[in-house]
Amino acid sequence: MKKECDLLVHHAQLMSCANMGVKYGLIENGAVACDAGKIIWIGNSDQCHAFKPKQSIDANGKVLTPALIDCHTHLVFAGSRANEFAMRLAGASYQEIAQAGGGILSTVQATRIASLDALVESACQRLAHLKSQGVLTVEIKSGYGLNVESELKMLKAAKVAGEKMKMTVKTTLLAAHAIPPEYQDNRAAYVSLICQEIIPHVAKNKLADAVDAFCEGIGFTYPETKQIFDAAARWGLPVKLHADQLSDLSGAGLVAEYGGLSADHVEYTSVNSIKKMAQSDTVATLLPYAYYALQETQKPPIDAFRKHGVNMAIATDCNPGTAPTTNLLQCLHMGCTQFGLTVEEALLGVTLNAAKALGIDGDKGSIEIGKDAELILWDTSEIADLVYWQGETPKNTILLAQ
Ligand code: NIG
Ligand code: FE
Repeated sequence: MKKECDLLVHHAQLMSCANMGVKYGLIENGAVACDAGKIIWIGNSDQCHAFKPKQSIDANGKVLTPALIDCHTHLVFAGSRANEFAMRLAGASYQEIAQAGGGILSTVQATRIASLDALVESACQRLAHLKSQGVLTVEIKSGYGLNVESELKMLKAAKVAGEKMKMTVKTTLLAAHAIPPEYQDNRAAYVSLICQEIIPHVAKNKLADAVDAFCEGIGFTYPETKQIFDAAARWGLPVKLHADQLSDLSGAGLVAEYGGLSADHVEYTSVNSIKKMAQSDTVATLLPYAYYALQETQKPPIDAFRKHGVNMAIATDCNPGTAPTTNLLQCLHMGCTQFGLTVEEALLGVTLNAAKALGIDGDKGSIEIGKDAELILWDTSEIADLVYWQGETPKNTILLAQ
């Protein structure tokens, strides 16, 4: 008797992205059966006659991957920072613009006065572009509200936008993104507000899946970040960190000590911190677009991450200041050309390792039995096409089994 199922895809170059000891977790002439939203079988196409699918798709030798994941974005925001781009071209640094009250704080001003609906609408447009590239899961941070009301508005906007776009959105509280203007002379009071009001409220109401901070000279100090992580731990929320982007403050080591999900940017991360990341399985999330847009010269220590077995993810960092992009495939290209990643590392960076960076690798990030049936069939038989071409990237079809 044949087994019924919702979807069968066969004759695919099945890039499972699972840890199978072969490149890409590749199954040549692969097939996958899905039912009720889950993957129920994977194997060779010659063996798939045991299924009676409602929908059967012949992939004709084309590439099949898990749906992509953008694991670090700030895509809920209002306003524009195009003027700062021009200022940077004229010689001002990101830090100088921030110290003069621009940068993150300029987006805070615009976001605070924006309506929930307006934030949802612009976020949906950004999500739509990501979805057109085969992305079905996106992490979205707050961090342009910097007070209780506006941080909550951002988290709500992120969730609503995800529902509207039928995408999975994981939200991260980034109240520790900058010191808001009203606390410039009393930063300790703002850190207390985060720890004693914002984190407890967000945790009790399940508004965020993780807590993040910007540990940097123009952000939060190491001890302040520790305080925020302690509060997150008290409330059972996992942590991640904008770490070592512009200088080495040992941020990646700190987030690893808290068993954090990921250390992000990591251009200046030391070997000492990398060893801690390896021990705690903290993912290094690389953000090549921000590196490029800020014309940074210090590259993340890719060889040391490899040597110590630290998993690497890649994300857009979509934000109006340092990464005005929703082009995840271009970020893969840049991860390869600027940071020297292989095509396989790039693909794992937006599948399995991105899922690990969000703590959702039990459900997403690879084509494995029991995981969500979210597959992308690419109109190419060559996986490097995803990374290689800019502009006209291979068309893709989203395959789901609901
Ligand atoms: O990931 N570095 C801090 N946060 C963002 C930039 C935010 C902004 O400039 O608006 C980043 O690069
Ligand atoms: Fe960021």
